[in-house]
This record gives sequence, C-alpha cells and structure tokens, in this order.
Amino acid sequence: MTNDVLIIGGGVIGLAIAVELKLRGAKVIVTSRDFHAAATHAAAGMLAPDAENISNQAMQDLCWRSRSIYADWTHKLEQLTGCNTGYWPCGILAPVFSEEEREIGRNISPHHPITPSSSTTYWLDKETIHQYQPSLGQEVTGGWWYPEDAQVDNRALAKALLSAAQSLGVELKEGIAVEGILQQQRQVVGVQTNAGILRAEHYVLATGAWTNQLFPLPVRPAKGQMLSVRVPEAITQLPLTRILFGQDVYIVPKRNRRIIIGATIEDVGFTPQNTPAGVQTLLQAAIRLYPQIQDYPIEELWWGFRPATPDELPILGNSPCQNLTLATGHYRNGILLAPVTATLIADLIWEQKSDPLLSHFHYSRFQNKSSTSSVMLTHPLPAFPDQGQVNSLTLKSEAFPEKSFAPNPDTPLIIAGKTFTSRLMTGTGKYRSIEEMQQSVVESGCQIVTVAVRRVQTKAPGHEGLAEALDWTKIWMLPNTAGCQTAEEAIRVARLGREMAKLLGQEDNNFVKLEVIPDPKYLLPDPIGTLQAAEQLVKEGFAVLPYINADPMLAKRLEEVGCATVMPLASPIGSGQGLKTTANIQIIIENANVPVVVDAGIGSPSEAAQAMEMGADALLINSAIALAKNPPLMARAMNMAAVAGRIAYLAGRMPIKDYASASSPVTGTITS
Ligand code: GLY
Repeated sequence: MTNDVLIIGGGVIGLAIAVELKLRGAKVIVTSRDFHAAATHAAAGMLAPDAENISNQAMQDLCWRSRSIYADWTHKLEQLTGCNTGYWPCGILAPVFSEEEREIGRNISPHHPITPSSSTTYWLDKETIHQYQPSLGQEVTGGWWYPEDAQVDNRALAKALLSAAQSLGVELKEGIAVEGILQQQRQVVGVQTNAGILRAEHYVLATGAWTNQLFPLPVRPAKGQMLSVRVPEAITQLPLTRILFGQDVYIVPKRNRRIIIGATIEDVGFTPQNTPAGVQTLLQAAIRLYPQIQDYPIEELWWGFRPATPDELPILGNSPCQNLTLATGHYRNGILLAPVTATLIADLIWEQKSDPLLSHFHYSRFQNKSSTSSVMLTHPLPAFPDQGQVNSLTLKSEAFPEKSFAPNPDTPLIIAGKTFTSRLMTGTGKYRSIEEMQQSVVESGCQIVTVAVRRVQTKAPGHEGLAEALDWTKIWMLPNTAGCQTAEEAIRVARLGREMAKLLGQEDNNFVKLEVIPDPKYLLPDPIGTLQAAEQLVKEGFAVLPYINADPMLAKRLEEVGCATVMPLASPIGSGQGLKTTANIQIIIENANVPVVVDAGIGSPSEAAQAMEMGADALLINSAIALAKNPPLMARAMNMAAVAGRIAYLAGRMPIKDYASASSPVTGTITS
C-alpha cells in the first residue's frame, strides 16, 4: 500500500506538516538525510516577527499568525509527547546605540499599532531601558520593546515533533538521501533515494537550503555562525530573561543557563565550520550589547544554513507538478513559521483549501519572466549579494563598469535544480588544439561544457585526455548523445554518459543532452525518436536537455514528459547561418516553463545577443568559437554577447516606431 503523503525533509517544517497531516488522518512518511543537519537544529529559536522588522505585509501577516498560534501548538505537542518545547513568551528588547539607530528599519511607531492584527511595540528611553534591563552596555541609548515576540527551544521542539510524529505513527526514515524526483506528465511518480524508489500519492518538498538540489527553485544557503555561553552556577538568578536583539547580533537566553549568540549571514554556499572572523564579529557585538557575557564560559560553537530566497519570503503551496507541494525557503523564520506553514499546507493537501495568503508565496513569482524582472528591479536581491556577477569575467571588463547604477536584476539559470551564473554553454569539438579549447572554455566564462560520449569512447581527435584537459570541479559536464541515430542508441549512450561524468567525480551528474539525428547531411534531429528517448530517460532519473528543431509543439510535449530544458536549433548544426528560426523560437520561449537554450547555428556574437534579447535562457555555442580565427578571443566575445543580450532582455528594448522621433524633444524641456 502506498503512503498518502511523502514529505522530503525532516526539519521543523517537514515534521510540523507531517504531524498536522497525521492528526487529520493521512498516512505519512518523512525522509531525512540527518535530522540534525537541518537549520532547525542550528537556530536560536526566536519567534520574532516584530524584532525582525519584516516589511512585506503578507509576510508580516503570516508571521503574526504563526506567533499567535504558537502557545497552543506547542502545548498540544507537549501533551502528545510529554516533552517540553521550551516555549517562553519572554519578549524581545532591541537596544540601540544612537538616536539614528532608533529609526533604522523600525516601521512600527510606538504605541500605535498599524493594523488590528499588528503588535504593540514600545520605545524605552535611556533611563528606562537600563532600569528595565540591568547590565546592558554603557553605550546603549534606548531601545524598542516587543512584548509579543517570544522564543522556543528549537532543539527541544525538534525532539517533541519527532516524538509526536513517532507516537502518531508517521513513518520516519532517517539516513535517506533523495537523489531525484521522478516526474511524468507533471506528476511526481516517485522519489529516487539511496535506498530505492519511494512512492506516495502526494509529495511535499521541505528541503530547506538544499531545495534546489532537487527542484529548480531559487533557494540558496545563507550560512549563519553561532555560539553559546553558559551562565556560571555561582550566579543563582538568571541574569537575562528576555532576548536582546542588536543591529548585528542577538543574544537569546534559555532557561537552562545556556545563552545563544547569533548569527552571521554569509553567502558562502555550504562551506562548513566556524571561522575566527565570524566568531569575532559575534563576540564583539555581543559584548558591546551585554558586557557580562565576556566572562561566561563558551559552551558550543556551530553553524547552519538558512534557506534564502531572492525576496527573503518562503515558497509555499502548489508546484508545477500536480501532486507536489512546496514548503521551503523560510530563510530567518523557519522555527516561527512552522505552525502556520503546517496548517496552511495541510489545508491545501488534505482539504484542497487554499488560504488567500498562500498566493503571496507561490513559486511562480520567480518563474514569470516579465514579473520577475520588475520585482527584482525594485528589490536588488538582498540575500544574494553576488547575483550581479553574471560572470566575473564580463562584469570586470572595460565594457561594463564595476560600479553600475543599475542593480543587476538577474536570477541565476537553474536547470534541474542546479544553479548556474553563466548562460553560455560551450563544447569541446572542432578545435585545432587542446590548448585552444582550454583557453576558449576559460574565456567563455561557461560553467557547462557538452561532451560527445561517443567521441570520448572512440578517442576521436581532441577527445583524448579530456579528463585532465578541463577542471571538472568547476565545469559541469553535459554528456551528449551526438552520433546516435535512434532512440535506443541514444538511451544507451546517455547511460554511458552518466558513468563518464561519475568517473570525472561528478557523482550526482544526471544531465544528458539528447541528440537523435538519423540524417547525416543536414544533421536534423528526429522529433519522434527524441520524444521516445526523452520519456525513457526521464523515467530513469536523467535531467534531459533535448536538442530539437524549433518546433513549439514538440517543445511542449518534451516539457510535459519532464525534460529539464528544451534546446531548439537556430539553424543547422555547425552551419553558422545564424537565427533562421526566430519566429518559432519566440513561441517556444513564450510557452516554456523550463529554460530554453538556443543551440546550433549561432555564428557571431550579434546573433548570440539577439537570441538572448528574445528571452532565451541560455545559449550553446561550439563551432562559432572553435572555428573562429582566434577561438579564445571569440569565446570572450560570445561571453560578453550572451551577458549583454540577457541584460538587454531584462532592461526591455524601446518600441519600434514607424517614424522618426527627435532625440531631444521640445516638450518637457527646461527653458529660462
Ligand atoms: N532567525 C534568526 C536568524 O536567522 O539568524
């Protein structure tokens, strides 16, 4: 018998949803790599919508709603399990060091709640705050008091949730790594794990910072370093009984004498460990705020990865697959948002009831290309400070000043859950020498290089020594099935390609560029064979990038069977004829929900830029670089063209007019 709901992710979000669904009568299974690896374990447990000063109205509502049900929710869990969750409505004090700091980011005025559901906050002057909270740093000149903010012991909460799930009969599977989500026709048909395939009727993705390893959502890790000190036993009364929330640090006292100090926000991927700089920053700021802790013994140092989205809001609700629900990207507020997320997601899955609030957190806000660009222009990606680096080579070139007034509004290219900052892919064929190929790959700034599996197998010229020729720790290999005339051949070669990528150390590389080309003269792909092979390869867990004629119907069918991209040709492979299929590519772009990669036929940088201006998500260019007089130089030009075209697309070109219009209009000018 299959389970009703399979939840991927055993953090506070996954577990809270599991418990809620189980209480409503569902048969639930939760998979987790390691319950302790989740951000849940690393958090400080603040329930701080007011102190966090959330400016987005929908997010504020969501956070307030969650805080308002927290006491009942934890009480229910405690009754179910006998475990204490450490829920403590202790309030949060946010001291400031100057008059200017008083207003920084505070969008709620004292004593004047904005809406009926908002919280009351108080401004405390210097004398009051020092009286109210003894031993604050001398530099503190006042502060905000948020009496409704609270805290929970996040590790105790995780235990209580696990225990509740267990006692209710949720099947908990720890040590399970989900390797891929098997999809057919916009349905999830199973999840491939290190312990075989698991199936259910419905699936929930609650994988936090690791989300885009499985699904193309812009969730990235935002590392936070933390530490704790312990109040010495000689001090009989707890010196701190409320949270202190500073500009760069927070101090969270627990009832068991532990005091948590957090947290850095670092964009360093999944780089583990504490660093001297991180710990120093935290300690310096914490001692300035509350000097007493400088003599308390350090108890523990740790770090965690917050799931950050570009707009810092979670991704909740339906996904492109009918039976997959998303509950991820909670960034700094996962512990706080657990109960409301569980309620809304259970309502959605079990009662088909979609709370209007969910619409603000729908994944499509990152997918709709035109709205993404306008949203991004007003929010220059606070959580992703390196977003602007479409790739470093180009932005540092003289053609694009480093200090630009226009924030780069781009999101990264995501293919099958893997994120790429470069939108240009290249190949390895047709180069005159291996050195030229190596230099060209570097100059192109590309992160994906396609390799013909058959040519590597037969050690065709230029394909010997490929393992050593490129740095496969930086370049993602895209094995291709060039030379395959039938679907069967292509499927076989794709499997070999996967092995080839593994041999190069890319264990998790399941990408394949699918080429089924029976016709040697024009090298045009076979649409039927391509669709058949794509269906089979998707079933086998491949991320399939099919090379096709620019046929919008075929592109749609391939997307429907679960392909990761579509790759329409601009003109026949290697012809350098440029964009001959513009009208059809335009239709494909308009209708695609997967990245559209324009492949084959691009001969010059102007054509590359034009394809990107049309809204292509990426380009694959090989011959135009390899056969140029100076391939590395052409690679650099193509790199810049792809970036320029992309930025132009985001910027939106001027409308074409029938008649001339003066560059210096006479209306609206300033005259003396
Ligand atoms: N919730 C606080 C943090 O993420 O650092």
